[in-house]
Amino acid sequence: MEKTKIILDCDPGHDDAVAILLAAKHPAIDLLGITVVAGNQTLEKTALNALRVAEWLGVDVPVYPGCGQPMIREKMVAGDIHGESGLDGPVFPPLRGELEEEHAVSYLIRTLLDSDGDITVVTTGPMTNLAMAMRLEPAIIPMIRRIVLMGGSYTNGNVTPAAEFNIIADADAAHVCFTCGRPVTMVGLDVTRKVLCYPEIVERMAKVDNKASRLFVDLMAHFCKTQKEIFGWEGGPLHDPVTIASLIDPTVLTTKPMNAQVDIRSTASYGRTNCDFFGYLGLPANVDVAIDIDVEKFWDIIEQGIRNYD
Ligand code: RIB
Ligand code: CA
Repeated sequence: MEKTKIILDCDPGHDDAVAILLAAKHPAIDLLGITVVAGNQTLEKTALNALRVAEWLGVDVPVYPGCGQPMIREKMVAGDIHGESGLDGPVFPPLRGELEEEHAVSYLIRTLLDSDGDITVVTTGPMTNLAMAMRLEPAIIPMIRRIVLMGGSYTNGNVTPAAEFNIIADADAAHVCFTCGRPVTMVGLDVTRKVLCYPEIVERMAKVDNKASRLFVDLMAHFCKTQKEIFGWEGGPLHDPVTIASLIDPTVLTTKPMNAQVDIRSTASYGRTNCDFFGYLGLPANVDVAIDIDVEKFWDIIEQGIRNYD
């Protein structure tokens, strides 16, 4: 099986942590590096969270800290969901390793320029690092095989009625990425809200009984609690791993090419991903928008991902 080379840009975050878990040991994925951005919590917290998850899982993947601020607007965090640490719940041993010295934006530029154009950039947080890399060195743009992002929605948001967190947290960065001209897959709330991690799912993964399953259970204990408190559902939507699952098995998602634009002008709809589902505008499609997900297949991929660990 040919591996898909990826760089995972994330803001751990509970669901980001599961995306790392799924990508780091899967035979279909070659996780070249993890780049981290401020999002669910401050950069200082999200970067160390990524390192803690990698060390807990025993995976040897470099972690590069990136941008601590959005390109233009003020930073927002999601402590209400992910806690003060950004990864409340699991108890990790003291860190043994260290973050990379190189900035994530520099790593993205260097790695993409040195590549054969075969790297997929997966973003599961605000898109600041990737957008800044494009602005700093436009020569990387044709070297990006595809951008697969968790973010946006063509229905309702989760921060405002219009906007989803990863997009509104840095809408300007999302705009740069949506208009870069490379293939883009948008994995929005429309599909991630269909993979709710119900108690029976947690019990299923707990039965695997290895270090990955124990991490999954501890992550979901917090994540599902805060998701119920805020949104009222019985299971937390496992947003970020859907990006990785779609690279492992493209049939898990149904996508539709659309013209999708990030609203960086208005007030009430600021940060909305305006996806032209019915083609009203007659504009070229720039994004493959996920419109459905095979829920059973997704959870099978998650369970297999957990079983990849000792
Ligand atoms: O809106 C959900 C997204 O925002 C997820 O990526 C979550 O981790 C947060 O980053
Ligand atoms: Ca995230």
